[in-house]
Amino acid sequence: MTLSRSQSAHGQSAQSRSGQSLSILGATGSIGRNTIDVVSRLPGRFRVEAVSANRDAEGLAQIAIEAGARLAVVADPDAYAALKAALSGTGIEAAAGQAALVEAATRPVDRLMAAIVGAAGLAPTLAAAARGTTILLANKECLVTAGTLFMATARAGGATILPVDSEHSALFQVLNPVQALNPVQVLDPDRLKAVETVTITASGGPFRTWSAEQIAEAGPREAVRHPNWAMGAKISVDSAGLMNKGLELIEAHHLFAIAPERLAVVVHPESIVHGFVSYRDGSVIAQLAEPDMRTPIAYSLGWPDRIPAPTKRLDLAELGRLTFETPDLRRFPALGIAIAAMEAGNGATTVLNAANEISVEAFLSERIRFPDIAKIVENVMDRVARTGIGEPASLDEALELDRTARDVARALVGEHIATAG
Ligand SMILES: NC(=O)c1ccc[n+]([C@@H]2O[C@H](COP(=O)([O-])OP(=O)(O)OC[C@H]3O[C@@H](n4cnc5c(N)ncnc54)[C@H](OP(=O)(O)O)[C@@H]3O)[C@@H](O)[C@H]2O)c1
Repeated sequence: MTLSRSQSAHGQSAQSRSGQSLSILGATGSIGRNTIDVVSRLPGRFRVEAVSANRDAEGLAQIAIEAGARLAVVADPDAYAALKAALSGTGIEAAAGQAALVEAATRPVDRLMAAIVGAAGLAPTLAAAARGTTILLANKECLVTAGTLFMATARAGGATILPVDSEHSALFQVLNPVQALNPVQVLDPDRLKAVETVTITASGGPFRTWSAEQIAEAGPREAVRHPNWAMGAKISVDSAGLMNKGLELIEAHHLFAIAPERLAVVVHPESIVHGFVSYRDGSVIAQLAEPDMRTPIAYSLGWPDRIPAPTKRLDLAELGRLTFETPDLRRFPALGIAIAAMEAGNGATTVLNAANEISVEAFLSERIRFPDIAKIVENVMDRVARTGIGEPASLDEALELDRTARDVARALVGEHIATAG
């Protein structure tokens, strides 16, 4: 629900705005700010319609003013007063709450950047998919929580889904070199028949060379210190345990309709090769770029064209060598747990995601230790997912299953704390 509209003479008039319209959900986050960075260097190419955050009202207001947005929404109603005050006199509309977020997501625009973190992004992004929006999808948890439903909704609504995750952007560029299809359209079955495996790379994260004992002692500061990428806290913790790679396999499975047994992960510490496709004639085609999210963001903003991104250019001779290793599922059990969930189906991945979000939150607030994340997720999977749950067929079913799994995960976090204490 839109709570109010701030009035001012400073707002841009419709006539003065040119270029493609763009809304950004999760504008105050790492992906959101990188998107603004790419867009702000291309004056006249994009005009920002709506921006959203959870509760960072100050940060959102600043972004909205600098980008010349028309609407700014905070998901948390408690942040509304601060947003309204910060936008006072700017002419930018301020709103709060879930309904306002959905309204922002479904405003007609040329492109919507979906960069909320976690399952909180599902309802607004799904609503945008149903309206046939061109969605630049960073929020992988949407697909992990309700991938089948999300892709079916996108197909039925005539939406275009463009991957933002660097690995999926890479696969998209490799699998679809003519750039005629978006991932919700069915890829040419003959071309897919020629594909043996589809591989995404993992940097290995900050604990790649650490022993299991060292990992057990790591706190949030160590876990978020990613060697190659600057990202939000949740995805950084996911990366440290390789859960992020598991979530990405599930994402690829839904985006490209690739069977789990044809998907693979290889650890590649330099993060230069982002993904590759191996064909039945022995050819392997890969996409390479410096590890900077502004490259895949620019690709999704420009598709099917390519627009400039202000990133370091790749110099392979300067780099010297690229290395690859097999992931160690013993030290990083979260990857194996996620693969099992992907094989079990969409209900299991809904539970996986919910349990992971609760556990990561508990780790970040120092209530549990790093290895407890995977243990709790696996335990929740045992208790909820393997009792024969089906695929969520609607948003309500997905949210209900998500809630159940969160409740079990919270109880297990409590038990862990009690046991540890
Ligand atoms: N960062 C990367 O390099 C990267 C790469 C690939 C994929 N991704 C994916 O992109 C998504 C965003 O990641 P990020 O690293 O940009 O996250 P982030 O830096 O933590 O930012 C998250 C954004 O979502 C908003 N948000 C958080 N909780 C919300 C809620 N309950 N309702 C509505 N909005 C909420 C935040 O608002 P506040 O600021 O008010 O909290 C912020 O704008 C994730 O799904 C991640 O897996 C990220």
